Amino acid sequence: MSSKTRILTGITTSGTPHLGNYVGAIRPAIAASRNADAESFYFLADYHALIKCDDPARIQRSTLEIAASWLACGLDPEKVYFYRQSDIREIPELTWLLTCVTAKGLLNRAHAYKAANDANREKGEDADAGVTAGLYMYPVLMAADILIFNAHKVPVGRDQIQHIEMARDIGQRFNHLYDGEYFIMPEAAIEENVATLPGLDGRKMSKSYNNTIPLWLPAKELRKAILGIVTNSLAPGEAKNPDDSNIFSIYQAFASAEETAAMRQAYAEGIGWGDAKQKLFERLDAELAPMRERYDALVAKPSEIEDILHTGAARARKLAGPFLDTLRHAAGLRDLRSGIEAVKKPVERAEKPALQPVVFREDDAFAYKVLDAKRNVLKTQGGFADAKAAMAAAREAMEHIPPA
Ligand code: TRP
Repeated sequence: MSSKTRILTGITTSGTPHLGNYVGAIRPAIAASRNADAESFYFLADYHALIKCDDPARIQRSTLEIAASWLACGLDPEKVYFYRQSDIREIPELTWLLTCVTAKGLLNRAHAYKAANDANREKGEDADAGVTAGLYMYPVLMAADILIFNAHKVPVGRDQIQHIEMARDIGQRFNHLYDGEYFIMPEAAIEENVATLPGLDGRKMSKSYNNTIPLWLPAKELRKAILGIVTNSLAPGEAKNPDDSNIFSIYQAFASAEETAAMRQAYAEGIGWGDAKQKLFERLDAELAPMRERYDALVAKPSEIEDILHTGAARARKLAGPFLDTLRHAAGLRDLRSGIEAVKKPVERAEKPALQPVVFREDDAFAYKVLDAKRNVLKTQGGFADAKAAMAAAREAMEHIPPA
């Protein structure tokens, strides 16, 4: 197996990036992508955006803004896989294969779907009023995003943990039904030391609360937005509690340890809110201004971004394409010329075969192993150009293993 840890995350393209996105997702993800032991996959989840947004102009605009944001913040599209979900044709195709092994009851239990049901019931409406099949299928599409690249770690917010668990369930089910270790079980990676920023009103900064500060406001407007953050009514000269201050929380997310300590001191000494806000603005602007310049230049050239996304998708599809071929084959969507497998009686199918071929990726090539019923490795070999060749060699090898 490739020894690198695969990290994958998607960003839904239905809004404008704000400070909370930057601190909570963009900045830590770009830092993680510089780790040489990791192979990172970052993508624009535009199929997911369709689930909550039916305004095409907004989806397009958001795709442009989010792609430009990640690039402006320093993502290197040559070092990571950076692509648009809808450019990877293998994703919707895998979604269907997974749909067919997903228990409907599993999807009934998804938090987002249940929340929609509950809201409807509260209003005395039909539980499924206004609920699209897209919302219902959301976890399966997300599982396909993750499983198509066999990601190990998926950095997400806590609200998404259930979706990662479902991806495991669904992948496991496929592995079991089709007798192979096709999918690696992904794990949610929750960054414990990443700050959740408060928004203008003190609640978590979030589009749904309408309390965000957009990431790329021009300096003047950024300053104005910061002046609008709620504070208590303590006057200048009165000592203030930094741990109960939205201004301080945001400052801390951008400042060094020394700067933060100095600000703590200033609070104790009674810094006025106007001054604290000015300091916050200056600190934010120092970090954002150079990136803002890059962002503005990128957004002005959508075709360059399109090229970057295209290149990213082509690279990603080199992984997804051969893997999907293996999965199609596993499920029985097969070329009739590839040999016709004898249909087993249901009882034979139910029994675990004595020998089991397993194909996996190994660096840039494919490899196989043959397992016995106790999952001991009887034979393994690498260096195959694609999964199909590895599987064929595995089957060939199995012919030569004497029955136990
Ligand atoms: N559902 C995620 C969110 O709203 C976005 C997303 C789509 C995603 N596909 C993904 C995240 C795959 C991680 C992995 O935040």
